[in-house]
Amino acid sequence: MMGVLLRPATPADAAATAAIYNAEVTGSRVTFDLVTRTVEEQAAWLRSRSGVLEVVVAEVDGEVAGFASLSPYRDRPAYRTTVEDSIYVHGDHRGTGVGRALLEEIVAVARERGFHAVMARIVADHTASIRLHAAVGFEHVGVEREVGRKFGRWLDVTVMQLLL
Ligand SMILES: CC(C)(COP(=O)(O)OP(=O)(O)OC[C@H]1O[C@@H](n2cnc3c(N)ncnc32)[C@H](O)[C@@H]1OP(=O)(O)O)[C@@H](O)C(=O)NCCC(=O)NCCS
Repeated sequence: MMGVLLRPATPADAAATAAIYNAEVTGSRVTFDLVTRTVEEQAAWLRSRSGVLEVVVAEVDGEVAGFASLSPYRDRPAYRTTVEDSIYVHGDHRGTGVGRALLEEIVAVARERGFHAVMARIVADHTASIRLHAAVGFEHVGVEREVGRKFGRWLDVTVMQLLL
């Protein structure tokens, strides 16, 4: 992997990160969002993860190649020690180590902030993401059967977890 710069996201990354994300909203089942995000919505999403939660951006040759985020896992307060990750790499940069670098970094951020568990919820046939998470130490917890529906198909969710 050559020349990947990892840094915290800023609202100025809204357009680039929204474009990467929205391609998956409209083109795949890896996110359970059905409606694309505007740049303004993405900027608000980034701002809401600029404190104890964070979004990390990967730059390659000065361009945003991907991002990873920490989000709250559940609303109820006793879950506050747990976060959920998400990770999106631009189609042109997949398979070059950007995803692994992002996931390792966002796990390091979660550890540094004092979180205790990181959860990953992955559409069940998504081998690339399941292998990526396993490569970084996540363990398989279980499968939620047919909890999602997108583009005319029931979707299982694989749940993976890393205790910090
Ligand atoms: C899943 C995703 C983040 C992987 O990122 P990436 O930058 O392509 O992955 P990397 O090149 O860093 O690969 C790291 C590891 O992931 C696994 N992996 C990545 N792509 C894979 C593929 N197509 N098939 C199988 N395993 C794969 C491998 O274990 C790989 O390690 P290896 O190269 O030593 O074999 C990327 O494909 C992506 O952004 N997809 C669209 C968005 C998405 O699905 N996000 C996750 C939602 S849960």
